[in-house]
Amino acid sequence: MSTPTVNILVTGGAGFIGTNFVRYMLAKRPAYNIINYDKLTYAGNLENLKNVETKQKYTFVKGDICDAEQLKATFEKYHINIVVNFAAESHVDRSILGAKVFVETNVLGTQTLLEVSKEFAVKRFIQVSTDEVYGSLGETGFFTEETPLQANSPYSASKAGADLLVRAYFETFKLPCLITRCSNNYGPYQFPEKLIPLVIVNALNDKPIPVYGDGMNVRDWLFVEDHCSAIDTVLHKGKVGEVYNIGGNNEMPNTEIVRRILAYLQKPESLIKFVTDRPGHDRRYAIDSTKIQRDLGWKPADTFETALPRTIQWYLNNRAWWERILSGDYQKYYELQYEKR
Ligand code: NAD
Ligand code: TYD
Repeated sequence: MSTPTVNILVTGGAGFIGTNFVRYMLAKRPAYNIINYDKLTYAGNLENLKNVETKQKYTFVKGDICDAEQLKATFEKYHINIVVNFAAESHVDRSILGAKVFVETNVLGTQTLLEVSKEFAVKRFIQVSTDEVYGSLGETGFFTEETPLQANSPYSASKAGADLLVRAYFETFKLPCLITRCSNNYGPYQFPEKLIPLVIVNALNDKPIPVYGDGMNVRDWLFVEDHCSAIDTVLHKGKVGEVYNIGGNNEMPNTEIVRRILAYLQKPESLIKFVTDRPGHDRRYAIDSTKIQRDLGWKPADTFETALPRTIQWYLNNRAWWERILSGDYQKYYELQYEKR
């Protein structure tokens, strides 16, 4: 008997982590078919995948996870048997300016995707969630998988809502779901609205770097490829119905990150501008990833010491990539390369 084909629907595959995951899987699992299903919001950038788009195992579908009919057509056409859901509105500051689209995509979109996944009886549904669903820590302690959900921003609240729906589809319908909750990622292809790429891009343009509040908020940073390897591990070895925290024990206050980047780029600290704090700004995130390390044997390959310089270098080497984001030109790529086909 032949082994069944693996057809993975990667939603949000044109975003930062999705892009890295698509690339990671095409290299690591060459027999798998990867179907990238993405709405191409401002955060979706198909130029990220330019040099893999002709690969036989890769397909792009422009689509919304809120659109059940289009999802069904895609599941049917590509015989989808695995779903990895990255699609989301992902920026906290935007969720403060307008929460509605966060509920639409992150909550209703996830529910629509779950429903279609149930109808097509997928073998695995991986929900890519975030440590932000746990809320904020004080000076000490770590988030474990048992930490109660205490989301503080509309973004994290919408992700928490999605997590509860995923859990409900497992408990009620036995849909084989797993949830991953990762700490802050950094690396190539991150949209320059998030802290690390924003600092790099502003510094290279000699523009002020806005640091919220006292700059002493702490995040637990993980290199994006380590997140990809963790999701691949959970997909292959994880137990259905379980939650897995993912983190790298790389806690650092924002000001320290900004200073390291400026030092690497030989730019002056006078570019730093302390600005009004983000409302509801979580003070500290720190992940206890014992469970995935102990039960599934995953561990991160990188630390800030190794991967931050590499990341900065990537932005230096790929200036055209982020300049096309700043000018808006990246949004013309789909029209030019796909619509004319
Ligand atoms: P991103 O904003 O860079 O990318 C999101 C992608 O989803 C974009 O390509 C966008 O076009 C697509 N999308 C948005 N709405 C859609 C919809 N309705 N239908 C289909 N596609 C849609 O986000 P990211 O940083 O790559 O994060 C990916 C996932 O990982 C998110 O679910 C996020 O919550 C989670 N996460 C992110 C981090 C982080 O540090 N960036 C950490 C932990 C978890
Ligand atoms: P961000 O990259 O938006 O990720 P998240 O809010 O999901 O953790 O922000 C990381 C940290 O950097 C957070 O404490 C907010 C802070 N920050 C700034 O100080 N200035 C900025 O311009 C941005 C975007 C973030």
